Amino acid sequence: MPGVTVRLAERGDEAVIAGLRHRWAEEQAGAPIEDGGFAEVFHAWFEREHEQRLTWLAHAGGEAVGMLNMLVFTRMPKPDDARTGRPGRWGYVANAYVADGHRDAGIGALLLGACTAHADRERYARLVLSPSERSVPFYARHGFEPATSLMVRRAR
Ligand SMILES: CC(C)(COP(=O)(O)OP(=O)(O)OC[C@H]1O[C@@H](n2cnc3c(N)ncnc32)[C@H](O)[C@@H]1OP(=O)(O)O)[C@@H](O)C(=O)NCCC(=O)NCCS
Repeated sequence: MPGVTVRLAERGDEAVIAGLRHRWAEEQAGAPIEDGGFAEVFHAWFEREHEQRLTWLAHAGGEAVGMLNMLVFTRMPKPDDARTGRPGRWGYVANAYVADGHRDAGIGALLLGACTAHADRERYARLVLSPSERSVPFYARHGFEPATSLMVRRAR
């Protein structure tokens, strides 16, 4: 897609990711959100999470317009893994977001494609996610299907 780039985020991208999260929350609220403590809370979360999370960022015309991240779950090793080639990781895909006004132009597909390509390259056992109803066709186009082997216990 002309003018759109997708790349893995680095530590220095924290403010950009926080900015996209803020923009998403404001879109959902339909109004500006003033939260003076958000940067600090976000920073603490980012510090805790960045070692086990990969984030892809999309830029269009120099502006950050989308993101998607994957929590990398590292399985407990099992004897003989090296010989059997058992995949050592799987991923939970989260926080897929493309700014309103840039949607339905394939940017989300580029982000998700970068994530699935990484998982394939690194031989992840699986990718899991919890889609909104509206985004089900989006994920289905990238090979996701309803899970029949997972269970969920919802909050009481
Ligand atoms: C889901 C999302 C990241 C897709 O990004 P995108 O750049 O629009 O994606 P693409 O252009 O590659 O594909 C468009 C598809 O996205 C989905 N989509 C479009 N608008 C959407 C929205 N407001 N919410 C959820 N999914 C949406 C649809 O499946 C659409 O395809 P379809 O019209 O054929 O069903 C983006 O729409 C978004 O940020 N939505 C709001 C946040 C959200 O719902 N995130 C996912 C939670 S699981």
